Amino acid sequence: MTIYPVNAFAAPKGTYDLTPPDSATFLAVREALAAPLRRAGYGYIETPGFEHVELFSRGVGESTDIVSKEMYTLTTKGGTELALRPEGTASVLRAALERNLHKAGNLPVKLWYSGSYYRYERPQAGRYRHFSQIGAEAIGAEDPALDAELIILAVDAYRSLGLREFRILLNSLGDKECRPAYRAALQDFLRALDLDDETRRRIEINPLRVLDDKREAVQKQLTGAPLLRDHLCEACKEYHERVRVLLTAAGIEFEDDERLVRGLDYYTRTTFEFVHDGLGSQSAVGGGGRYDGLSEMIGGPALPSVGWALGVDRTVLALRAEGVELALPAATEVYAVPLGEEARGVLFGLVTALRRAGVGTDFAFGGKGLKNAMKSANRSGARFALLAGERDLADGVVQVKDLESGEQKSVALDAVVDELSAQRS
Ligand code: HAM
Repeated sequence: MTIYPVNAFAAPKGTYDLTPPDSATFLAVREALAAPLRRAGYGYIETPGFEHVELFSRGVGESTDIVSKEMYTLTTKGGTELALRPEGTASVLRAALERNLHKAGNLPVKLWYSGSYYRYERPQAGRYRHFSQIGAEAIGAEDPALDAELIILAVDAYRSLGLREFRILLNSLGDKECRPAYRAALQDFLRALDLDDETRRRIEINPLRVLDDKREAVQKQLTGAPLLRDHLCEACKEYHERVRVLLTAAGIEFEDDERLVRGLDYYTRTTFEFVHDGLGSQSAVGGGGRYDGLSEMIGGPALPSVGWALGVDRTVLALRAEGVELALPAATEVYAVPLGEEARGVLFGLVTALRRAGVGTDFAFGGKGLKNAMKSANRSGARFALLAGERDLADGVVQVKDLESGEQKSVALDAVVDELSAQRS
């Protein structure tokens, strides 16, 4: 049975529409987050909005909340089990394998993406069921400089937006050599604690996640829990130290956080999160790490890789929390206001010519009167209004009004496009 919301126009729970003028900020944020990636040789990739369920259950992990509780799954009429993508990494790696990008020559294959992701989470400020990420994946290379590069690129992206109050949490989750022994030691420790049944079950399936339990009663008991830091093998220790040295040399401040476990199972070695203190409980504006085993988990060859995803929605919230206003140029630079039928035709022609010359131009549609049309011109954010009545046309001119200074002058019809194009440069 379909239950419609009380308000028939309401978007589904946990989702929201992006509309002007706010939508312009989202576009600008997406562009700013992606710009450093483009400069660093990352190529754009787009994958489908849905995938076979198995990709995520094998890749992200059966035991994660994302797969066990938060996936939107559906069975097609043909009986195929699909899931709306809850994240981008597994899809990007699958696509790279399908297209054999890793065999094309240079490794790592560096890719970036922008898109919508879906998780059936309990909605709250900063946590949505449909959200937007910019992501980056560097596939097929094990090199601490690559991990450092990605962290630096994210920092540059946030800074280019004017964001200041974010912190970087850094950890190493070890690899297939050292993690199993740590896991066993942690399980022994956790089994002796006073925990509820669900948490006890979690100890058996995903003990590292218990460290991430936010409840005070649990956190209290975790003092003295074995730390992965003390169980890392020499290779992991050395790798992590090299990442730290490279970041420090680049002037990047980070906090070592041995408790940082991410909500996805594919991570190995370097993991990191970008947190913003102005966001309350949903403080992670981005996160990522190395996933050296993911390719094999989904049936591919060994391809050590690293990546991150930055949350666009939360980055916008973080900007608001810091009171950062992005300087967004008005899309409309010129607004044309015809007075009378003949002028409509002439100005409409000029509007097209201006647009073709690269000048953002709009027109008073709908036969508005002068007062209303001027209101629309002001609201549009345009710097200039273009006015013409019968007398102007008889004189072969239009009036160009500077909406900031109020100054107005006549400009010959055949000079308008040049004159207004010149004004903007
Ligand atoms: P993630 O930590 O699950 O990682 O998500 C990355 C970012 O997406 C989060 O830090 C947050 O800003 C945003 N985000 C996640 N869930 C929501 C939500 N429900 N509402 C709003 N924003 C959200 C990944 O997705 C990994 N694929 C990142 C990665 C790439 N690791 C390696 N490569």
